[in-house]
Amino acid sequence: MVLDGEVINKLTIVLVLLLILKLQKGNPATMRFHLLTKARKRTVFSYLLSRAFSHRSERPSFGISFDIDGVVLLGNSPVGGSPGALRKLYGVDGRLKIPYVFLTNGGGFPEAKRALELSQLLGIDISPSQVLQGHSPFKQLVKRFENDLIVAVGKGEPAAVMTEYGFKYVLSIDEYASCFENIDPLAPYKKWTTKLAVTQNSKFNESVPRNDVLSKRVQAAFVVSDPVDWSRDIQVLCDILKTGGLPGRNVGPQPHIYFANDDLEYQTKFPSERLGMGAFRIALESIFNRTHPHCLEYTCFGKPHTSVFKNAEIVLQKLVASIYDDFYDKNEDNISSFKTLYMIGDNPAVDIRGARQTGHPWFSILTRTGVFKGKENHDKFSADLVVDTVEEAVDYILAKESAL
Ligand SMILES: *[C@@H]1O[C@H](CO)[C@@H](O)[C@H](O)[C@H]1NC(C)=O
Ligand SMILES: *[C@@H]1O[C@H](CO)[C@@H](O)[C@H](O)[C@H]1NC(C)=O
Ligand SMILES: *[C@@H]1O[C@H](CO)[C@@H](O)[C@H](O)[C@H]1NC(C)=O
Ligand SMILES: [Mg+2]
Repeated sequence: MVLDGEVINKLTIVLVLLLILKLQKGNPATMRFHLLTKARKRTVFSYLLSRAFSHRSERPSFGISFDIDGVVLLGNSPVGGSPGALRKLYGVDGRLKIPYVFLTNGGGFPEAKRALELSQLLGIDISPSQVLQGHSPFKQLVKRFENDLIVAVGKGEPAAVMTEYGFKYVLSIDEYASCFENIDPLAPYKKWTTKLAVTQNSKFNESVPRNDVLSKRVQAAFVVSDPVDWSRDIQVLCDILKTGGLPGRNVGPQPHIYFANDDLEYQTKFPSERLGMGAFRIALESIFNRTHPHCLEYTCFGKPHTSVFKNAEIVLQKLVASIYDDFYDKNEDNISSFKTLYMIGDNPAVDIRGARQTGHPWFSILTRTGVFKGKENHDKFSADLVVDTVEEAVDYILAKESAL
């Protein structure tokens, strides 16, 4: 019979339990034990159990962050053997064994919806807490803009994303633009935009009355995902930003504008890279600079910012705590830190650069299924390891970690 790590751990726990029971029965230690309150006994229990566990190194001392576009998906198709690679992170019982998250600069849908979609595309059970999107940090701005009129830009359901985060007074740029007659002189040539605005928003009138939109100043604009109608969005954002949040009126101080990422390019199913949110930002900024006395002030989130990687580490630590919930008392024990966190990405300037500048415990792995297509390493942002596919990356990690 082969005793693997799991069996040994279970035996250890049984032995510890027996030991405690024996102590309670008839030992000099009994007196002291009986003086302990019930709660305290529970603490001792969970402490011993968790010690037994961590000494056996059952709790993995590593975690993995997967970029999505160009690593696990191309458009809506899995790439690089991603479904099989991800399945290796689960035990035979189907429970998550190795902590991992998706760390994408993309977005446009609430995390729960994206998790469901990924689960279907990849054939595994992904929880919303494992999905970190470019716009996830917008949550931190709720207190500041909770009751202010804000505009959400981008493909998908940008307003739903912001509402889910707790912003109370949010309109998509489609809804917003539809309140201003003649704001987009090209609108008659793109009827699909107006149609979308009408059909999509049954609750529009209830959430923000039209009169408010025409009299209240927009306090902030959030570019949640890749903008769809660049000409209309640049026009309307310039209007908002130049007038202090009230298009068609006098100039005013520039409202804030936040971008979920600053990716110049990203990979889809088309053979060469496509223009991303960073390209849109440059277009907007150049036009704003040329038509306004002050230059555009803005904030970009997303990789390669160090804060994104630090946040991923915290999320992964919480994930470990929840995986080992049965044996681990979260209130009593410190969440241990990781020895290694792996970032698997396809974009040297975003994924690799971000992991590298964050430093310990990040280890960067570059795949060749997306933006990067080179033979050797990238010359400017060189990864710790270059592989062809995400499956190769996962095999490398599992082999390396089991050998430790
Ligand atoms: C929304 O309000 C406008 C004007 O205030 C009105 O014409 C329109 O019928 C309303 N739509 C709905 C769905 O209530
Ligand atoms: C906008 O103007 C600022 C200040 O002059 C400059 O730093 C920035 O590069 C300009 N942006 C673009 C895209 O031209
Ligand atoms: C948890 O760790 C921190 C710093 O590493 C330490 O200050 C704190 O006392 C620890 N808490 C417990 C309950 O061990
Ligand atoms: Mg990518």
